[in-house]
Amino acid sequence: MTSDRANRPVLAVDQGTSGTKALVVCPERGVLGTGTAPVRPRHLPGGLVEVDPAELLDSVVVAGRRALAEAGEPVAAVGLANQGETVLAWDPDTGEPLTDALVWQDRRAEPICAELAPHADELHHLTGLPLDPYFAAPKMLWIRRHRTRQGVVTTSDAWLTHRLTGAFVTDAATAGRTQLLDLDTVTWSPRALDLFGLAGEALPRVVDAAGPVGTTTAFGPELPLTGLLVDQQAALLAQDVTEPGGAKCTYGTGAFLLAPTGDVPRRSSTGLVGCVAWRLDGRSSYCLDGQVYTAASAVRWLTDLGVISGPAALDPVGASAPDTGGVTFVPALAGLAAPWWRGDIRGSLTGLGLDTTPGHLVRALCEGIAAQVVQLTDAVATDLGEPLRGLRVDGGLTRSTLLMQTQADLLQVPVEVAELPDATALGAAAVARLGLDPALTVRDVTPARRPAAVYEPRITPDEAAERLDRFRTAVSALVERQPS
Ligand code: G3P
Repeated sequence: MTSDRANRPVLAVDQGTSGTKALVVCPERGVLGTGTAPVRPRHLPGGLVEVDPAELLDSVVVAGRRALAEAGEPVAAVGLANQGETVLAWDPDTGEPLTDALVWQDRRAEPICAELAPHADELHHLTGLPLDPYFAAPKMLWIRRHRTRQGVVTTSDAWLTHRLTGAFVTDAATAGRTQLLDLDTVTWSPRALDLFGLAGEALPRVVDAAGPVGTTTAFGPELPLTGLLVDQQAALLAQDVTEPGGAKCTYGTGAFLLAPTGDVPRRSSTGLVGCVAWRLDGRSSYCLDGQVYTAASAVRWLTDLGVISGPAALDPVGASAPDTGGVTFVPALAGLAAPWWRGDIRGSLTGLGLDTTPGHLVRALCEGIAAQVVQLTDAVATDLGEPLRGLRVDGGLTRSTLLMQTQADLLQVPVEVAELPDATALGAAAVARLGLDPALTVRDVTPARRPAAVYEPRITPDEAAERLDRFRTAVSALVERQPS
């Protein structure tokens, strides 16, 4: 039986790379209010990406208050999803930031990873993560070496949670994005801390995704914060993908594919990330994870160049061409993540001619994003020894029919689009409700699925293989041309 409190609406906040989205979610009546607030990371030469932490906090408060105002009714609790590997130093006494936040995309810790390369296998075994500046620990060490030795250095969720409630915590899945968490025990690894030169750092307490963390008045009335979960895992929970053989992909700033492995921690043999999906009631669930660093940000790049007017133009402009016209686009505009781990690689556009049109470029971009996702699903299938049965997708770009059809065509399995693109916020709502009432189960808090659309493959397996081969050849050419 659920308590009355757990049946009341909750405020779910998704603090993402380029903005915060907040929803007021009612278990019975769905989304009652929505609020958004932009965040503007600075992209600087040399692969540096920073953001003012005050902007992150302001965006959380503004988006949350907007959602509550639109809903116009009280909520029982707050859930927070966060962008994972973004780090900053801050003063634990005052809560004041001591540095800008280094965003997950920031590549400045490359030399630190090169230095630690002899320990890469050991770190992979300990934490499930390959050594790469994408994760938090290399950036934490960079801050310690080059910015400040004062205060604490943590992922952005720990700082936001402290500013909201005064608690000093991080959820197990976010902790797993640092490369400092022991994948088997789900506790901070003394050996990994030692290897990163971070032994002796005051680290946040690792908590379950659901449970009371503290209270906040940041959104007006005093509210308990009862859910904390890193964003991609929050979307996995909301998409209700819990059995091996399934996977979800969220098409946000980047595209992130997660495939559950149940209660078994896995070390990928194909270059994926083995990590915590969530910890609930002290029990950890795990997943494999792969990333496409640029999805919506590649669409934005095409927009900034004036080729299209925005994401909504993908379909009409793409429809003006029957195919890619021989153009191959590797949209590695911020490098290649799993399974290549070549953050230094830059993208390529090949096969251009005087007859190339914006329609060809749009189709080639969609194919480039979708082909990278297929590379990840192939890696999952190899690691788990069974093919993927289907893919559940969410995120803003899933509203592009062209991208989703291309995805189903190249994947050769059905692609099921979530009813609401905001699966991450719905996952934050789910853990907030779980945290309100210990009697609830994951099944109780994940709504019945009504996909917005299901895309079936429309091309033959041979045609899909030919198109994927073309893409892989283009990636190989890049990797060979730009030795690491
Ligand atoms: O790993 C970073 C990722 O989770 C950020 O997601 O939605 O801000 O692109 P998003």
